[in-house]
Amino acid sequence: MTLQHRRILLGVTGSIAAYKACELVRLLVREEADVQVVMTPSAERFVQALTFEALSRRPVRTELFDRDAEMAMSHIELARWADAVLIAPASAHCLARLATGAADDLLATLCLAARAPIAVAPAMNAAMWDHPATQAHVRTLRKRGLKVIEPDIGDQACGDTGPGRLPEPAQLRAELEELCAERNMQGIAAVVTAGPTREAIDPARFISNFSTGRMGCAIAEALLRRGARVTLVHGPLEVPPPAGANLVPVATAADMHAAAMARVGDCRLLVAAAAVADWRPKAPAARKIEKRAGPPPLELEPTDDLLADLGRLPERPYLVGFAAETGDLIERARAKLQAKGADLMVANRIGPDQGFGDCDTTLELVDAHGVQRLGPGPKHLVARQLAEAIAARLPSAAPALDSPHADCQNTHSG
Ligand code: CTP
Repeated sequence: MTLQHRRILLGVTGSIAAYKACELVRLLVREEADVQVVMTPSAERFVQALTFEALSRRPVRTELFDRDAEMAMSHIELARWADAVLIAPASAHCLARLATGAADDLLATLCLAARAPIAVAPAMNAAMWDHPATQAHVRTLRKRGLKVIEPDIGDQACGDTGPGRLPEPAQLRAELEELCAERNMQGIAAVVTAGPTREAIDPARFISNFSTGRMGCAIAEALLRRGARVTLVHGPLEVPPPAGANLVPVATAADMHAAAMARVGDCRLLVAAAAVADWRPKAPAARKIEKRAGPPPLELEPTDDLLADLGRLPERPYLVGFAAETGDLIERARAKLQAKGADLMVANRIGPDQGFGDCDTTLELVDAHGVQRLGPGPKHLVARQLAEAIAARLPSAAPALDSPHADCQNTHSG
């Protein structure tokens, strides 16, 4: 794969290895990648911004509060502009600040706002690299899904020998190639449903389920990371929705059905991760039912099934359904795949001590070709594997030409 026209945000922090980043920029520009260098104040002590400007043919960004630069492209726009973020070299201080979520300079703030995959290439003295504090930060970053590139072992500028050397520019370029490969859903419009629905019994009571919306939000986040334009149609969530999704909050199964149906027209993908109520009270009471009248007889009627209704349409997006099961996972998922006309079913086990709300999960992907297991692992990382598996299965079509940054605000549109 070539990096031509890929938008690379290269962060450079205070390490003697900053000079190697110059060579990396040369390599990338030779390949016609668009490289935006962001330097921290300590990086400028090692290499002049002018050097990077000459090599990248773009002004280097250094300040969070640079009015002229912000007018041209705000730091939030810059964060969203990037297809991949690489910090090379990443100092021990940089790792500590990323691990704590600091947002007191431009580079750290960009890393918080970026949706693109982020890699860091640490470079420091071997003792600093081995220090438990640095190693704890590395673990935190990896757990959060950042790629931490192992430093090379060898002679160091300070005279020591050991791990801590910045890998050579050619290797860093290869790492960038891998990161950019993750942006393979650029501009693709997707609808994700998430969370439970609520079906009214009376104005004070409803029927619902234990879904928190965590998995649906994690999938939306993973699709955004690949460059998709995501509309999240969601019931009441117990987790924050991902930044950058177009949010459509709903309450009932009927609302969710209508909201999703209205938005799938130009979509290539629908992921039905919501735990939709299967039944609703046939005649919800207009006034609160009084307790002293005794338990009310509840007559229920089925809700409309979004996934099954879409599965019957001749022209429809690629359909991914979920099957949360207590019994035979694979068999149930196969049956639902067929019954609903979906392209892929994602089965996961639920029970008294696993399932809804858990942070860790294992998924079985069932489609016409067989079964694939993802996980076990934290939901947000398994969701990224799922996004990768979906991207690999998505039928090819002319990629959408509209801006990948359209719909990038967290907006309530319905
Ligand atoms: N689904 C839907 N609309 C519904 C019910 C379910 O879109 N009214 C979707 C879910 O979001 C999920 C898939 O269908 O992706 C399977 O849902 P599930 O509840 O597991 O299956 P059901 O068909 O409802 O069957 P059962 O409850 O008996 O397992």
